[in-house]
Amino acid sequence: MCVPPIAGVRPQDPEALSLARAIALDAPGEVTLVGVYAYCGDTYGCRDVPAVQATARATATAVLDFVTALRRAGVPCPQASMGSTPSCSHPVPEMSQLTELHPGNYLFYGEQLGNPQNLRLVGLTQEHGQVEAVDGPLDFKQFPVGSILALIPYHACATAAMHPVYYVHAGGKVVELWHPVRGW
Ligand SMILES: Cc1ncc(COP(=O)(O)O)c(C=O)c1O
Repeated sequence: MCVPPIAGVRPQDPEALSLARAIALDAPGEVTLVGVYAYCGDTYGCRDVPAVQATARATATAVLDFVTALRRAGVPCPQASMGSTPSCSHPVPEMSQLTELHPGNYLFYGEQLGNPQNLRLVGLTQEHGQVEAVDGPLDFKQFPVGSILALIPYHACATAAMHPVYYVHAGGKVVELWHPVRGW
């Protein structure tokens, strides 16, 4: 389940339980229900920390309630997880009952670029970069359809997918190599 709706079903959807049951039980040789995941992207629209935390609490509670309902219905569901950098930056106690958190930008905080053409990147999703002029309205004549802008992708998912290994450094030294899970 995701907000904005990218994929999945809402836990309140009457079909959610039967879908989870089908994933868990219908083809045990081929598919395993590992857990339930919710991405609360709506935290990006929150104007203050209490609003982020209210959304995070609602999301964590929805995940945990759904996992409980699944277990009561006899459907094994080991993992309860949620994501979004704003919620992970301002966690609420309910989130400690989750088994995983999936922040992306959180790992790369602050890595945003300016642009020599006096544009700035104001948003990035997996597929779209959103730019605006630093001063005044954007002059579209300077950027006809087909223009190519070079952006260093900082969207966590797209960036992470491009690298086979992460060099983790602290105090000027590489202290660990992380090998991301590929193939999603
Ligand atoms: C499903 C899903 N989970 C996690 C993330 C990472 O989110 P964030 O960068 O807010 O931590 C994204 C980002 O788009 C996402 O789509």
